[in-house]
Amino acid sequence: MTANKTLLMLPGDGIGPEVSRQVRRIIDWMAKRRQVTFEVNEGLVGGAAYDAHGTPLTDETMADAMGADAVLFGAVGGPKWDDLPFAVKPERGLLRLRKDMQLFANLRPALVFEALAEASSLKPELVRGLDILIVRELTGGVYFGEPRGIETLPNGERRGFNTQSYTTSEIVRVAAVAFDLAKKRSNKVHSVEKANVMESGVLWREEVQKLHDAKYAEVELQHMYADNCAMQLVRTPKQFDVIVTDNLFGDILSDCAAMLTGSLGMLPSASLGAPDASGRRKALYEPVHGSAPDIAGRDLANPLAMILSFAMMLRYSFDMDEDADLVEKAVKNVLAGGIRTSDIMSAGAAKVSTTTMGDAIIRELDKLS
Ligand code: NAI
Ligand code: MG
Repeated sequence: MTANKTLLMLPGDGIGPEVSRQVRRIIDWMAKRRQVTFEVNEGLVGGAAYDAHGTPLTDETMADAMGADAVLFGAVGGPKWDDLPFAVKPERGLLRLRKDMQLFANLRPALVFEALAEASSLKPELVRGLDILIVRELTGGVYFGEPRGIETLPNGERRGFNTQSYTTSEIVRVAAVAFDLAKKRSNKVHSVEKANVMESGVLWREEVQKLHDAKYAEVELQHMYADNCAMQLVRTPKQFDVIVTDNLFGDILSDCAAMLTGSLGMLPSASLGAPDASGRRKALYEPVHGSAPDIAGRDLANPLAMILSFAMMLRYSFDMDEDADLVEKAVKNVLAGGIRTSDIMSAGAAKVSTTTMGDAIIRELDKLS
């Protein structure tokens, strides 16, 4: 299978380049061993772009992102750039990418690897085999709604306010992503809001139900209030498969679900936009963690969140499920073999560097293919 698959890599700052390098090795391996070639373009983002160009994302790099089939993003930020004005802070680079690419669906898996079940904050038997996918609406809701602000009232008191707002199309497009994903998994969706106290939640529930009945009747749909969902996630997390929810609840619930799996260094994510006429979605893949300045430059970072983000890219942008499975299986087997970076270290395991973890993944891919 040889096709023109274009990929923009934006390693960024801190450990971003270190973990991105390990993905580059897998891409090279795939070209050699699976005859899959990506046309890889690399660019600067965040503090690295600011240092070179005075902006965290140049128009040129933005155009490259718009033209690529997928963007693989490392991490941005660090103490060196903490005092920059808001408009050129490293994070602005990522925010612009999300906004201009209109990435409205944020996918956050919470997957427990058997070898790491002990690392969860919950009892191992509650999380063993856990595999949840949270779909968070990313471009609407209370983080963007108008009016917003802080005002001073006639009595001198100050008032801060934000607006939770969703249109039917915003709800339907993210719900459709969740239903489509559920069909490839165990066919179950929990839609989460607070319809008991919020009108936006009432509309959310009605629109999700309507879409379900019209187009996805074969998927099992349950509605759940967000507070109950938070409780259920830490009580019996395995009842969930796909959870779809708004921006605010998704922010909180995805962090909560993530910690069921143990380490920040293991968590991938994907952000998807609307499909174009040819069915291609703009997409950005990134680890959940940041640039980890405390360990940057020392070959200590766990590259697995980045590698698993790459696997998501294979699955969601390129329909290469078999290759995605292969990469995920390599990660699983390497962990089962007792190889660990320091962040996921446990008794009896072998502590390795970023590069050595990369070596182990490549060796395992060789074995599996
Ligand atoms: P962080 O995720 O960078 O680090 C939190 C802790 O987890 C640190 O102790 C770090 O060493 C550890 N850690 C994170 N990723 C790891 C990995 N792959 N392997 C081993 N250990 C890992 O979050 P923090 O410290 O709050 O932020 C540091 C910088 O990163 C800040 O400038 C922040 O703005 C930026 N940041 C960027 C993000 C992005 O680019 N999407 C997301 C979060 C933070
Ligand atoms: Mg968060």
